[in-house]
Amino acid sequence: MEKQELRSANWFGRKGKDGFIYRAWMKNQGIPADMFDGKPVIGICNTWSELTPCNAHFRDLAEAVKKGVLEAGGFPVEFPVMSLGETLIKPTAMLYRNLVSMDVEESIRANPIDGVVLLCGCDKTTPSLVMGACSVNIPTIVISGGPMLKGHWKGKNIGTSDVWRFDVAHKLGQITDKEFIEAEACMARTPGHCAVMGTASTMAVMVEALGLSLPNNASIPAADARRKVLSHLSGRRIVEMVKDDLTLSKILTRKAFENAIMINAAIGGSTNFVIHLLAIAGRIGVDLTIDDFDRYSQNVPLLANIQPSGENYMEDLYYSGGLPALIMEMEAIVHNDALTVNGKTIGENCSTAEVFDRKIISTIKDPFKPESGIVVVRGNLAPNGAVIKPSAASPELLIHSGKAVVFENIEDYHKRIDDPELDIDADSIMVLKNVGPGDIPAWPKWEIWRCQKNYWN
Ligand code: FES
Repeated sequence: MEKQELRSANWFGRKGKDGFIYRAWMKNQGIPADMFDGKPVIGICNTWSELTPCNAHFRDLAEAVKKGVLEAGGFPVEFPVMSLGETLIKPTAMLYRNLVSMDVEESIRANPIDGVVLLCGCDKTTPSLVMGACSVNIPTIVISGGPMLKGHWKGKNIGTSDVWRFDVAHKLGQITDKEFIEAEACMARTPGHCAVMGTASTMAVMVEALGLSLPNNASIPAADARRKVLSHLSGRRIVEMVKDDLTLSKILTRKAFENAIMINAAIGGSTNFVIHLLAIAGRIGVDLTIDDFDRYSQNVPLLANIQPSGENYMEDLYYSGGLPALIMEMEAIVHNDALTVNGKTIGENCSTAEVFDRKIISTIKDPFKPESGIVVVRGNLAPNGAVIKPSAASPELLIHSGKAVVFENIEDYHKRIDDPELDIDADSIMVLKNVGPGDIPAWPKWEIWRCQKNYWN
């Protein structure tokens, strides 16, 4: 490869004062000139932070990536960007998604980087990093942090969504203060992001479905040694991608987005998928609308039995064959010729995948549930459209009439929800007003509950 072909040659290949400065300040890190001069420089965009517990193991993953990059003849440079954790950030991580995307975009654009590895995990870190990289459009590969292992408490499997059940059970006096505290350590017991099909898992599935990661990125648990192997291999592969000039826009075609929508439907992905995929499409210049989610989800049944639409966890998906096995079940409907980061098509990547447990990954002919992930509804309450997830809804609620119990805002909800005198029953429909994107910064998610029954036992 000629030096001029590399973007980084505009820094390290220069003559005179500028080249002197660029090279001298790399050498002050103890790096010999032949390590970076003339070699593909691979940025490792790291969202490691102890304030983002889902991503707190990313230093180990970055080390594995570096080994792969060096083996393949590249030069790895790790750089931090703002990290967004759902658990601690106030008022909401969504407020900063676009800010992080700008951080990522400018960090890549401003530096001598020929290809980039994105280390993503907790919900918003994936869309923000992918959006930022799309705006630069250099060779890019994504590594997700992987799901945590399922928790165990008093003989039951538990996941991070159980915090609401614990809360209700605690309020109703069904579990003691001591048990409530004890459950904290049992629920999130390993590195990784939430193990149900929440937004983080949905984003990990999304990047694999789009072709932006190596196969099985979506479901290898964070604590599984194979997550480091995948990182190591991704490090090797990104160097090849730079040599092949395999940029993001060559992978993120219209077909890739349609695949992501169909696969999200089959896996029971989060409704947040819609807002993030639309944003990514906008950055890379693919025309995608909310109606496409309806169009391409419509005839796709739910194949994966994973919470909240089912009973299982992301690690179970991996042990059952992983996302490639699920995509293999969909070979008659997905675009098998869509290109992925390893240079093969998604069809080639999945052609030898096997399903090991039909209770976790079902067939298209005999699906886990006939209703799939995302449906766009319109009506007088939502003239511009709203998104629902029928696979996670109680079937009897899909056609339902009941008394509306209206809360004017979140403060009104908190004030009245536990009032025993509140005129509400199991058939009521709770309506929370004034919490949309025009009312509250950044459109936080709201979950509204009323204790009506025994949730835990
Ligand atoms: Fe980070 Fe759930 S809190 S993925």
